[in-house]
Amino acid sequence: AKVTFDYSAAKSFIADTEIEMIEKAIEGAKETLLSKTGAGNDFLGWIDLPVNYDKEEFARIKDAAKKIQSDSEVLLVIGIGGSYLGARAAVEFLRHSFYNSVSKEIRKTPEIYYVGNNISSTYISNLIEVIGDRNFSINIISKSGTTTEPAIAFRVFKKLLIEKYGKGEAAKRIYATTDKAKGALKNLATEEGYESFVVPDDIGGRFSVLTAVGLLPIAVSGADITKLMEGAAAMRERCLNQPFATNDSLHYAAIRNILLRKGKSIEILANYEPSLHYVSEWWKQLFGESEGKDKKGIFPAAVDLTTDLHSMGQFIQDGQRTMFETVINLETPSCEIYIEEEEVDLDGLNYLAGKSMDFINKSAMKGTLLAHTDGNVPNLIVNLPEQNEESLGELFYFFEFACGISGYLLGVNPFDQPGVESYKKNMFALLGKPGFEKQREELLKRL
Ligand code: PA5
Repeated sequence: AKVTFDYSAAKSFIADTEIEMIEKAIEGAKETLLSKTGAGNDFLGWIDLPVNYDKEEFARIKDAAKKIQSDSEVLLVIGIGGSYLGARAAVEFLRHSFYNSVSKEIRKTPEIYYVGNNISSTYISNLIEVIGDRNFSINIISKSGTTTEPAIAFRVFKKLLIEKYGKGEAAKRIYATTDKAKGALKNLATEEGYESFVVPDDIGGRFSVLTAVGLLPIAVSGADITKLMEGAAAMRERCLNQPFATNDSLHYAAIRNILLRKGKSIEILANYEPSLHYVSEWWKQLFGESEGKDKKGIFPAAVDLTTDLHSMGQFIQDGQRTMFETVINLETPSCEIYIEEEEVDLDGLNYLAGKSMDFINKSAMKGTLLAHTDGNVPNLIVNLPEQNEESLGELFYFFEFACGISGYLLGVNPFDQPGVESYKKNMFALLGKPGFEKQREELLKRL
């Protein structure tokens, strides 16, 4: 089974002629992407990554993961944005629903906590309590090596590690994923002798899940990173070589842009499995940071269903009509539960006796899809065969490729993120960072 795209439920919103007319533009965007002649063309390393990655480093990632599994009860993954979301998406999708709380016998691998993705002192203090006196290691991930949130968290946990193990042993428990040559983190890693992994120059944060950025934490969780790469490679093959008529990723890019041109400026990614929550977070960053610029773009939102049908469901069904919905349909769940018959049908559920929970979940999905469609919200479907590494690798690449194409179609550079700098400048000025004195004065006057 493969990851596939199906927009048959949205046919009433899209005329065949519209698809015919956008095909040329899509082919043009693909040509621009693959010939590397478009904006941001020095950030296209992700295109061939699934077949063209550093095999020596890949083996080192597996070895480091084994070492962490053998000497640590806890792994801290310190990173933010693209240096965090992909790893979390994969670990939460591929491993146990209650990964950190289930018994060690079931989990078999270290607990994994994500930190450095906020500036909350409560979060960090509570995490220190969770670690307690247990053995732990750190994977500090920052391409630039200078991002404030992870750098602050790293200071705190590095100190803890040194107090516990001494400087020499602590250095052996720190794994740095960063630029190959530059940045504060690279300098620190060289100085202190941390094992280092590389974020390639030509791969931006939100496209980096299949580099060491994602792969080391994913491997520590016990997921199979070889299969993840194989899934991505299989999807890459289809994205690059299938003609438009049978190219699902190109169709997804086409349809969402047709809908945007009709005023559907919000895309809601919907899932019916809680394990997909962080895949949606990863997807939000991928599309939001790639397309939201030059006053353009589709605003990416996400809902977890059926949970949010009891909250956001009202708005989707009946609020302002500016959205379309893309449903990730996990075709085969990993586990199955059947509803049993009860002698006295007090809760009135005997009509479901013998039915599987997934049958009920899928019925909710289909019913919602029709209701939202009737409510003027076009529904697109991405079919995800299984909760496994191959499927997820395919899904990651499917979205990345569609994102590159979609960005070019929109007429933006999908591979930069100038907008994320503004808050940083203000924050540095308010913190009194040397070099920001003038901005500080101006900002203080406004507060
Ligand atoms: O996609 C991006 O470029 C950002 O989200 C970055 O990944 C994020 O800001 C973290 O940057 P860095 O890895 O340099 O610490």
